[in-house]
Amino acid sequence: MLFRFGLKFALSNKDGQLVELSSLLGRYVVLYFYPKAGTPGCTQEALAFQKHLARLRELGAEVVGVSPDRPQTLQRFSAKHGLEFLLLSDADGVLAEAYGVRNGRRVERSTFLLDRAGIVRWAWRRVLVPGHVEEVLATVEALAQADREVNGLIQARRAKRALRPDPIAQEDIQRLIEAAHLAPSCFNNQPWRFVVVQGEKLEAVKRALPGGNYWALKSPAIVAVASHPDLDCRLSDNRDYFLFDCGMAVGFLMVQATQMGLVAHPIAGYDPIAVKEALGIPKDYVLITLVVLGWPGDPGELSDKHRELELGPRVRKPLSAVLGWNSLPKEGT
Ligand SMILES: Cc1cc2nc3c(=O)[nH]c(=O)nc-3n(C[C@H](O)[C@H](O)[C@H](O)COP(=O)(O)O)c2cc1C
Repeated sequence: MLFRFGLKFALSNKDGQLVELSSLLGRYVVLYFYPKAGTPGCTQEALAFQKHLARLRELGAEVVGVSPDRPQTLQRFSAKHGLEFLLLSDADGVLAEAYGVRNGRRVERSTFLLDRAGIVRWAWRRVLVPGHVEEVLATVEALAQADREVNGLIQARRAKRALRPDPIAQEDIQRLIEAAHLAPSCFNNQPWRFVVVQGEKLEAVKRALPGGNYWALKSPAIVAVASHPDLDCRLSDNRDYFLFDCGMAVGFLMVQATQMGLVAHPIAGYDPIAVKEALGIPKDYVLITLVVLGWPGDPGELSDKHRELELGPRVRKPLSAVLGWNSLPKEGT
């Protein structure tokens, strides 16, 4: 299960003060629902969270217990057992409802692990207390370590060329554009213009591809990305930001495509005049790239060179060639 905005709520703490869950953004949140403070199971669970609290905090995690109890009850519960983590009163069951753990007037014992961005990454439903907190701790340890790796979708993305020509649903293509459209841009100018090309127009665009991009002929849809310098910030020192911002948008599109199992491969190899003409894009616009879309296909159908690239490791310069600390890296290293 994975849903966003898991922290868009405010509930009372044991002192009756309203706590915005969003104030926990930037930390892992172990959000656990329990039915009733003071009962044996809930006490045992709370004590187990208290026992492991220091280690959880070391990992950047905060524990939040949620129950239908009134603040005064939470006050007593917390004082009696020396609980140092946040206890929230969900008397109306709003949070339990949102997390789908409200069963009539009862709350199902369950735990959600939210990441530093407030996204639910793990869920335990119908929790049995013995061993549960230890399992949560192990999951936080693993997640904290995994989240410090380079993002998995960024690692998985490749400029693949082997395509299956099966159609891509309109709504899937639209989702890619929605992701692209969430990119940041200078002054929020959103200079990107996307033309989704299918059908007869697609054939016209394919005629504008050079032989080297033969593999793109299998694509069921191509996204043309166009813009104009006047659509974005133009600052001194030749800082025209339209290309930069469109590049970020395409980056977002590619990450989204990777998540959806699609290939999204930007190319520069096409006749821009012919494509602009075919799509009615004004001459003074820059046709920045064509993003070739498709489902991953059979690498056996590629040229020897492309098959090798497709199946081979990713090629990058060493990091020292592109990264300098406090000064530019030396060229040619
Ligand atoms: C702006 C741009 C233009 C590209 N043009 C082409 C192209 O015309 N044909 C092609 O086969 N690949 C093209 N590529 C793909 C690159 O060759 C590829 O991204 C690069 O080799 C790195 O491989 P990777 O994306 O799998 O890490 C282009 C990529 C970008 C970003």
